[in-house]
Amino acid sequence: MTHFLPEGTVKIAAQNLGVFYGEKQALHAINLDIRAGEVTALIGPSGCGKSTFLRCINRMNDMVDGARVEGSLTLDGNDIYDRGIDVVQLRARVGMVFQKPNPFPKSIYDNVAYGPRIHGMAKDQTELDEIVMNSLEKAGLLGEVEDRLSESGTSLSGGQQQRLCIARAIAVSPEIILMDEPCSALDPIATAKVEELIDELRENFTIVIVTHSMQQAARVSQRTAFFHLGKVVEMGDTEQIFTNPQHTLTQGYITGRFG
Ligand SMILES: Nc1ncnc2c1ncn2[C@@H]1O[C@H](COP(=O)(O)OP(=O)(O)O)[C@@H](O)[C@H]1O
Ligand SMILES: [Mg+2]
Repeated sequence: MTHFLPEGTVKIAAQNLGVFYGEKQALHAINLDIRAGEVTALIGPSGCGKSTFLRCINRMNDMVDGARVEGSLTLDGNDIYDRGIDVVQLRARVGMVFQKPNPFPKSIYDNVAYGPRIHGMAKDQTELDEIVMNSLEKAGLLGEVEDRLSESGTSLSGGQQQRLCIARAIAVSPEIILMDEPCSALDPIATAKVEELIDELRENFTIVIVTHSMQQAARVSQRTAFFHLGKVVEMGDTEQIFTNPQHTLTQGYITGRFG
């Protein structure tokens, strides 16, 4: 399967995207492009709608009672909220890594093999082994676990568990990986490893990462969007956002005057 667009092509586009939880509007008229082969960071104060936006991309908000979406959100030009969309298929194309590492209570091998098995991606054991090894390798974990693949995923350290979750996400060959504060439960060394990994992954995946660490956004992303009170205040090249923000709200946030 080849789905690599040239770096910089628009992969996900939001146009006037609004999201409501019941009466409460969490996102207002979001206009945002996410480009293929790049890491896009979403930053902004707590409660400004970063996770809500992320969860629109793989329709995780569908599971929230009373959640409603208006406007348009497209993946490769196709409406993510089209009635005809197969949500299971969508979630295979758009993987997700959460704040707290959440390996299944299964072996390391079975954690990674889980998705490929469900989607019938391997025709035999040899092929499945290949996918598992390859995913662990890409997640920078293979060397640490190759002689203990049958041990439980939950026996790993927090940082290893998070890389296992990344391997599990990669195993179904998604096009996009969403990461919601993936390092917030990790120590600095584990964080550095995951950040290094994110930089390598962008060769093969489009990545959208929510982070409350501006240092992290600056280190790992090519483009940054600053959210505030449910709106995108500013989006641009990460370097520009951090060195020459155009909006006083952005400036206030990145210099730590509020947050
Ligand atoms: N499941 C939910 N039900 C109701 N309101 C929610 C839900 N999730 C988030 N919200 C509200 O939507 C707004 C944006 O939240 P969120 O997207 O989690 O922000 P962030 O990730 O930037 O901290 C907040 O006001 C939050 O309280
Ligand atoms: Mg959040």
